[in-house]
Amino acid sequence: MRRPFIAGNWKLNQTIAESRELAQQLVANLAGVEDRDIVIAPVFTALSTVAEVIKNSPIQLAAQNCYPQIQGAFTGEVSPLLLQDVGCNYSILGHSERRQLMGETDSFINLKLLKVLETGLLPILCIGETLQEREENRMLEVLTRQIEGGLDTLTAEQMAGVVIAYEPIWAIGTGITATDDQAQDAHSFIRNLIRELFNTEVAAATRILYGGSVKPDNVDGLLAQEDIDGALVGGASLKAEDFTRIVRFES
Ligand code: 13P
Repeated sequence: MRRPFIAGNWKLNQTIAESRELAQQLVANLAGVEDRDIVIAPVFTALSTVAEVIKNSPIQLAAQNCYPQIQGAFTGEVSPLLLQDVGCNYSILGHSERRQLMGETDSFINLKLLKVLETGLLPILCIGETLQEREENRMLEVLTRQIEGGLDTLTAEQMAGVVIAYEPIWAIGTGITATDDQAQDAHSFIRNLIRELFNTEVAAATRILYGGSVKPDNVDGLLAQEDIDGALVGGASLKAEDFTRIVRFES
């Protein structure tokens, strides 16, 4: 019942020309793929160009971040309204790189999430533990804090638009993927938590993506797991052929 969701996070990569070319390749490769959500998240400066390229294709647009205000004296920031204006449907929020490098907290991410929903965009909320937290058996505690903090004050109705991405930090950009079982265990824990915080229907409907070194050769096993509904792909999303194969996962 949960529609698969594959998203490519291009991170801080690609000029406008490179972004256009990659988007054009994906449009050609993925024409006619209608049974899953396909989302790409270029850098802010390429959003407008990529929006034009993917118009009339099954590919949707995401931003990698936004600020929790619509307008005003917030130098250097971009609001959900402006993201919608440029053609975004989604915004990634709380990516571990922003948590670690820019010091984003759960409460700040929660403000963004609420503003994104208020604007009519849909959030992709990223959560995940560090290697140290996992080794110290604090993984469940960390995931609980990130979910409860990120989704604070949300109603069950608002949850209908929220996508969660579980990205264990030790698996991001390292080539070390969580095993199918490790990922499934975390996803099942997250779904149970959503059940406790909201209700059974919300838990059953919420899409939970796995992220962290997803590649063409491991996507099928991961996506075959009961509680893994899609993937948030970093490095492999920059190669048209690899991302195409990941979108066309077989399980
Ligand atoms: P990699 O696929 O490069 O490990 O990155 C994952 C990620 O951070 C996606 O948001």
